[in-house]
Amino acid sequence: MTTIDYTIDNDVRRDSIAVDTTRPGDLDIVRPLPRISIHAFCESEGMLHLLDQCARDRRMSKVTLRSNKGTISSAAAMFAQMPTPNLIILETSVDPANLLGELAPLAEVCDASTKVIIIAKHNDIRLYRELIRNGISEYLVGPVSIADILQVVSNIFIDPQTEPLGRSIAFIGAKGGCGSSTVAHNCAWGISSLFSTAVILADLDLPYGTANIDFDQDPAQGIAEAVYSPERLDEVFLDRLLARCSDHLSMLAAPSMLDRAYDIEPGAFAPILEILQRSAPVAVLDVPHVWSEWTRRVLAEADEIVVTAMPDLANLRNAKNLFDSLKRLRQNDKPPHLVLNQVGVPKRPEIAVDDFCKSLEVDPCAILQFDAALFGSAANSGRMVAEVDKKAPAAETFSQLAHLLTGRTTVKKARKQGLGKVLGMLARK
Ligand SMILES: Nc1ncnc2c1ncn2[C@@H]1O[C@H](COP(=O)(O)OP(=O)(O)OP(=O)(O)O)[C@@H](O)[C@H]1O
Ligand SMILES: [Mg+2]
Repeated sequence: MTTIDYTIDNDVRRDSIAVDTTRPGDLDIVRPLPRISIHAFCESEGMLHLLDQCARDRRMSKVTLRSNKGTISSAAAMFAQMPTPNLIILETSVDPANLLGELAPLAEVCDASTKVIIIAKHNDIRLYRELIRNGISEYLVGPVSIADILQVVSNIFIDPQTEPLGRSIAFIGAKGGCGSSTVAHNCAWGISSLFSTAVILADLDLPYGTANIDFDQDPAQGIAEAVYSPERLDEVFLDRLLARCSDHLSMLAAPSMLDRAYDIEPGAFAPILEILQRSAPVAVLDVPHVWSEWTRRVLAEADEIVVTAMPDLANLRNAKNLFDSLKRLRQNDKPPHLVLNQVGVPKRPEIAVDDFCKSLEVDPCAILQFDAALFGSAANSGRMVAEVDKKAPAAETFSQLAHLLTGRTTVKKARKQGLGKVLGMLARK
């Protein structure tokens, strides 16, 4: 969905940067863009109009684009209050000598993963080099055409040379029924709703998956078609298989039927993971409690892993084996995150949280109490925990997890890496 928001900012400089509407440019070479969010701040009506035309281009159909009149300072003020999108486009008439200084407050509030394109009017190669060195993705000099904009966005987000757009987060349970899917679904929903980031939830539990029930959906197609028709798998086919759960969350649902046996080839999920990472910033993988070659490969490939466990002996033993095996599979990666779930079931003897974690030599990233009423009514009504009771402690825990897993801090402050750090240092010079 593409939306245009003509919020008018009074503090707008009137001198416009030339926009080239006479030249559509070579659009044929631009591939459809993935599900990214873009927020553009334009100083001129012309640029606003050009972006409106970009937004209507079919290659932008999956992109969420907001454009409003405003300066670099308006962008900094806005993003001090809300999460930054995947891409910020800034049209600016600021003098080259002052540009880095103007960008510093924005860098302070920018997420490390956010890309920035600047459209200016000074053809200044030294400035260009300095900006690129400081984390700006592209510096365009007007007049720019629709194709120029789509081409640079495409270079940033679909160029095979650059890192893939999406990060994948795999969730697996230490034992069947410990709540791994519940944690995965609530995190996927949390990331998509808290940060307005597109998330694709893939339910890898083909025979028994519950993502369809948890989001009250019954799509005719889903992950099985992707697994068993790899030759058809491209962005267009993926789009047809996705079921929409909410504004920014879509799902590759499991068939959850036993009309066939699901023997999965060891590499069956590799092409799916790749296309998911090209299609959306976050892919949440709900991996069943199975240890076979294909699950090992999915877990080896994922950017982050979340192991959910309940505090009993079998969970502890399995979690220990999982952590050890994953360490061997992912020698250069951080260990998985541990979520302790269903803590405090009445009358059930359990291993104390501290002892459980000490044996595993990890700190849990979340502890969720057993709450039959809350989780039961969420599961039975096809809603997420925060939709049932947004004040429940578990809702807050899922929100913190969503922040942690996407590398965001709860309180907005300067990033210690990427654009924020470098520009922040420059600003202090
Ligand atoms: N903290 C909790 N308190 C109470 N019930 C919970 C809690 N977490 C999960 N549940 C419930 O436990 C049941 C199992 O959860 P879920 O299906 O998410 O587990 P799983 O680990 O994915 O299981 P499977 O091995 O079948 O994939 C569900 O009915 C869910 O609602
Ligand atoms: Mg499950």
